[in-house]
Amino acid sequence: MMPPTLYLSRLLPEPVMAIVRERFQLVQEPLDTLPSPAALREGLCQADAAIVTLGDRIDATTIHAATRLKILANYAVGYNNIDLAAAQARGLTVTNTPDVLTDATADLTWALLLATARRIVEGDALVRSGQWTGWSPTQLLGAEVSGKVLGIIGLGRIGQAVAQRALGFRMTVLYHQRQPITAATSPQKWEYRSLHALLEESDIVTIHVPLTPATHHLIGARELSWMKPTAFLINTARGPIVDEGALVEALTKGTIAGAGLDVYEEEPALHQRLSPLPQVILLPHIGSATLQARVQMGLTCVTNIQAVLDGRPAPNQVPR
Ligand code: DGY
Repeated sequence: MMPPTLYLSRLLPEPVMAIVRERFQLVQEPLDTLPSPAALREGLCQADAAIVTLGDRIDATTIHAATRLKILANYAVGYNNIDLAAAQARGLTVTNTPDVLTDATADLTWALLLATARRIVEGDALVRSGQWTGWSPTQLLGAEVSGKVLGIIGLGRIGQAVAQRALGFRMTVLYHQRQPITAATSPQKWEYRSLHALLEESDIVTIHVPLTPATHHLIGARELSWMKPTAFLINTARGPIVDEGALVEALTKGTIAGAGLDVYEEEPALHQRLSPLPQVILLPHIGSATLQARVQMGLTCVTNIQAVLDGRPAPNQVPR
């Protein structure tokens, strides 16, 4: 019997490639670049199953054209790139990759948070430039993180993993999301606040909500004006949750002290006034970029695909 056909929109890490080559017939050899919308549609139309990434915009037209497709396994925990309503209407299963990237993303959030507060990138650039003249009491003074107030917007898996890491820094952790968590779901002492109160009280604010119509531009000019002028904003979730233009204004005027960004409104394009700002650290969307997480994400996709092709429910079907 012929193996099922699989469309991969991108090349995945080698351990995952070895497994998919063994189990499926690839529609085409994947490249390490984003496919054009036409190439994406063509690939999806030939496949029984597909692994797609967050850069692939999968709209209703594509979903209806890909009549053979039974499952879209999104190689990410976020799935804002897929028209879920269209997929549901046509009975197409969509899955994501929760859990396996929680630690990697929480670690990266902390790396970015510390790097932003302690001016790590500026320090590295100074040493490399050959302009460093030696230790100075006034050089590259950053902000203390230990003992400060951390505000977490979205206390899901990743938000909680970020909160747990704050324990070692003796931080007070505040959080905001639609519903406060109950003591049963979390025994930790994390304090619920309205968005306004969280932004006013926090020294560092970090975003961990999914991108939905309700969270688009959740942080705009008004919200940034509620933050302390000494505060930092960290975003490792999705770019459009923050109004990038308003953020640039807030940083330029000193409404807030700095920002650490891993995600952008129009990835990979960057707001032209962001890159000259030294108080901002800019990363290329690498929250889940550890070999371990990226392999596990691939294996999660394969498990979901196998389940659907075998007629079983997919373990990570969205929405849950
Ligand atoms: C996700 O999984 O949603 C990340 O942004 C990509 O690693």
